[in-house]
Amino acid sequence: MNIGIIGAGGVGRALAKGLTAAGHTVHISSRDPRSESLFTWKEEIGHTCTVTGFKEAASFGEIIILAINWNGVEPVLRSIGAGVFADKIVIDLSNAVEFTDSPQLALKEGSAGELVQQWLPTAKVVKTLNMIGESKMVHPVFTEGNPTMFVCGNQQDAKQTVIRLLAQLGWNDCIDLGDIGRSRLLESIMLTCLLCEIQLQSFGAAFSLLRK
Ligand SMILES: NC(=O)c1ccc[n+]([C@@H]2O[C@H](COP(=O)([O-])OP(=O)(O)OC[C@H]3O[C@@H](n4cnc5c(N)ncnc54)[C@H](OP(=O)(O)O)[C@@H]3O)[C@@H](O)[C@H]2O)c1
Repeated sequence: MNIGIIGAGGVGRALAKGLTAAGHTVHISSRDPRSESLFTWKEEIGHTCTVTGFKEAASFGEIIILAINWNGVEPVLRSIGAGVFADKIVIDLSNAVEFTDSPQLALKEGSAGELVQQWLPTAKVVKTLNMIGESKMVHPVFTEGNPTMFVCGNQQDAKQTVIRLLAQLGWNDCIDLGDIGRSRLLESIMLTCLLCEIQLQSFGAAFSLLRK
């Protein structure tokens, strides 16, 4: 599939690498697509992945992944234009977190996923992957077993497509939690995982649902 990634930080790069390795055609984007750091990264990974601006990546993708800092999401989506996302799948993995004494959710009501769906009313927004660190986002391996990944969104077909994409990235235990309102839960799970990591001083944790 053609996949556009908005953001070329740690998460954007990890997903671009994993998705190109899985056979997808990826356009990754940045405020500065000509930066030396992106050029070097692209040379090093050796995959055929194109670096562009935000609007080009969004126009290219059948699936678009939002991988920028939360404070940049609304202005970047506005600058691209909601129409570019019409009928497309948008994977939102952003986390609105404030770091004061300890991390906390910045949104007192609602969630990032719901806001993204409001800003892109004709897109099929699917929230997922926000609760796993970038180093474990692709082919997560844990000696203790398989980690679980949750998805939520309003369109069933979009969630099924995203679950198939997640399987290609090594996520074999995906659970659909319901509509985009469930983003609140996914964002809370992220915070819970993060606080556990801080408390235990053990980073790279993932959530796993134990069953009978
Ligand atoms: N890091 C993780 O392990 C992890 C895991 C799950 C979810 N997330 C979420 O994924 C998102 C990206 O995280 P990351 O770790 O990849 O961050 P990062 O490495 O700091 O990269 C941030 C990206 O966002 C862009 N950006 C930052 N502020 C912006 C603004 N005001 N306007 C436009 N673009 C802006 C940067 O653009 P330039 O390239 O132009 O500098 C960069 O591409 C965040 O919402 C984060 O909460 C992160």
